[in-house]
Amino acid sequence: METKKRIMSGMRPTGKLHLGHYFGVLKNWVELQNEFDSYFFIADWHALTTKYNQTQDLKQNVEEILLDWLSAGLDPCKSTIYLQSFVPQTAQLHIYLSMITPQNWVERDPTLKDLAKIMDAKKENLSNLSYGLFGYPVLMSADILLFNTDFVPVGIDQVAHVELTRDIARRFNNIYNTNLFNEPQPKLTQIPLLKGLDGNKMGKSFNNDIKLSDDNITTENKIKTGITDRNRIRKDDKGDPCNCEVIFDYWKIFANKEEVEEICCACKSASIGCFECKKRLASKVNQSLEPIRQKRIELQKNKSLIKDVLIEGSKKAQIEAQKTLDKVEAAIQMYK
Ligand code: TRP
Repeated sequence: METKKRIMSGMRPTGKLHLGHYFGVLKNWVELQNEFDSYFFIADWHALTTKYNQTQDLKQNVEEILLDWLSAGLDPCKSTIYLQSFVPQTAQLHIYLSMITPQNWVERDPTLKDLAKIMDAKKENLSNLSYGLFGYPVLMSADILLFNTDFVPVGIDQVAHVELTRDIARRFNNIYNTNLFNEPQPKLTQIPLLKGLDGNKMGKSFNNDIKLSDDNITTENKIKTGITDRNRIRKDDKGDPCNCEVIFDYWKIFANKEEVEEICCACKSASIGCFECKKRLASKVNQSLEPIRQKRIELQKNKSLIKDVLIEGSKKAQIEAQKTLDKVEAAIQMYK
């Protein structure tokens, strides 16, 4: 039997997931878990790099994100699903990697500059960052290399981190004259980023997102705020779906070809207005998210589910992680 290639990926627990997360990353994971030996984890230590002083929601956020994952179809029988802080080998490997990573490699990481901007709104001054946040990409490299992963399914914004991981893997192998680590490749989703309802990047801080777990009414109300063709002012003005900034993109994701053509004609001929178009879209969106939302409600009834899944998955992850860590310590010639 051919052994499966391995993938691993994670998300920070920052609250309930929105459709951008779902179509950008999660849906991809759910499909990939059938084909690959898969590790998915909740990056709670990474959440602390920026939210170290806002930890009141941390526990809740871990539970919400796992509920979203499971209801979207991640399956603990197929994938190893774990919590980063339940696998302390992550932190141990991070220590070793931090010793061999030049500071200027970390400074080059463009994503870190973005994080720096968030932490210090005015300037992107890396020397102001906490030690932990500066080490964000090195911790991420530890996550990835701990499982000797072949591919890392992530959004485009994470690719620079995976590049750094490859550099660190190569440097470790050179310094300790080993071929312990292979060089993981990023694996991008085909589906383009789903815009927020106001046309900006979808994000909860912009209040322009639809949550996977929103109810039907909330979803409809949010969709009603979506931007359409700005030149179409009155209902009987003829519209142009090519100028429709947001709503038409959603149609293309949630409806089939015939339905998209139908809505296109209705817009161009002004046989329906934007209000009606959005109402119909909302019903399509709600219909297609219904199974996920139903499953979430079911799963929520099982009070011990979240803990059980994380404890079981973390046990499995620890066994693999310890194998890597033993080899790392042998390569470095640590005292045993
Ligand atoms: N940085 C990732 C994000 O913000 C989360 C993450 C942490 C991750 N460690 C990882 C993703 C390892 C993939 C692999 O989305």
